[in-house]
Amino acid sequence: MLRILLLGKTGQVGHYLLRSLAPLGEVIAPDRAQLDFTRSGSIRATIRGARPDVIVNAAGWTLVDQIEHDPELAMRVNGVAPGIIAEEARQCSALLVHYSTTFVFDGAKRKPYVEDDAPNPINAYGRSKLAGEQAVAAAGGRYLILRAAWTYSNRRSNFPLALLKLACAKKELAVVDDQVGSPTWAREYAGATAELLKHPDRARECGGIYHLSSAGQITRYRWARRIIELAQEHQGERSGWATLRAIASSEYPHLAARPLYTLLDNSKILSVFGIRMASWEDQLGAFMREWAGRSDASLG
Ligand SMILES: NC(=O)c1ccc[n+]([C@@H]2O[C@H](COP(=O)([O-])OP(=O)(O)OC[C@H]3O[C@@H](n4cnc5c(N)ncnc54)[C@H](OP(=O)(O)O)[C@@H]3O)[C@@H](O)[C@H]2O)c1
Repeated sequence: MLRILLLGKTGQVGHYLLRSLAPLGEVIAPDRAQLDFTRSGSIRATIRGARPDVIVNAAGWTLVDQIEHDPELAMRVNGVAPGIIAEEARQCSALLVHYSTTFVFDGAKRKPYVEDDAPNPINAYGRSKLAGEQAVAAAGGRYLILRAAWTYSNRRSNFPLALLKLACAKKELAVVDDQVGSPTWAREYAGATAELLKHPDRARECGGIYHLSSAGQITRYRWARRIIELAQEHQGERSGWATLRAIASSEYPHLAARPLYTLLDNSKILSVFGIRMASWEDQLGAFMREWAGRSDASLG
């Protein structure tokens, strides 16, 4: 039985981790009131009190545009706090599983990014997450950094939920068609993490950075079209859905710059741990079935 300290249980990935980690042992999951990343004392006290074998850190500040207004706070939450967590993990010999992001890259490549590619973040979120990776590695303990991609779920704010709401309220929606990624359901990240932790000794031995995302690729505009098609299939054809129009990122007023190409090469995690993610289409299909089945899935 592992003692697992889960941070970020109210987030997209953390919500599913609460369930996927439960069969592996005792899961201790403080909320932000108990463990605030801006207060180093609360981080250290909670970890020392929990004495975990494994810490899974799915917490962080993920609102990419808002972060442009307060990069210092993002650096404390995403950059400094993971280093404190990693130091405490080393002190109690715990393995740290920490999520990072494909946004550490600039998106200039045209082949999937491998773990050894040089990071070059182009927004404050990416810079803060890269600082977090570096702090985790510098602490000198055992760690796995999982770099994740476009993440969505039936909770909080994310692209599919925002799109479904807007597509009901508007006649036309412009969606960027030059950003390429691999949309990944938060539930799949939680499942893959639990798979990794079924073999904690191997996870300790094979520490480092791993890329993890759904298979396949899609532009944001084509992803949006598929989301609307699936919503129509589930809810029946009806009028009132917005028409989608493809635009370039340069036409969309984002506060934070977005990397255009965010594909991750997942071959390292497959060869070391045998983890293979389903395609983005299969994940989206399953997600939309869950979305349609929710009692509050009525749109608008
Ligand atoms: N979302 C994406 O598209 C995406 C893509 C790639 C990688 N990732 C990475 O994957 C991980 C999980 O992402 P996610 O989408 O599940 O995140 P999320 O839904 O935004 O959830 C973030 C979690 O962090 C907690 N948190 C925020 N600020 C905190 C603070 N100051 N102290 C303590 N806890 C705090 C939140 O608690 P509250 O409920 O109290 O706010 C929440 O539990 C993150 O490391 C993220 O950078 C995300």
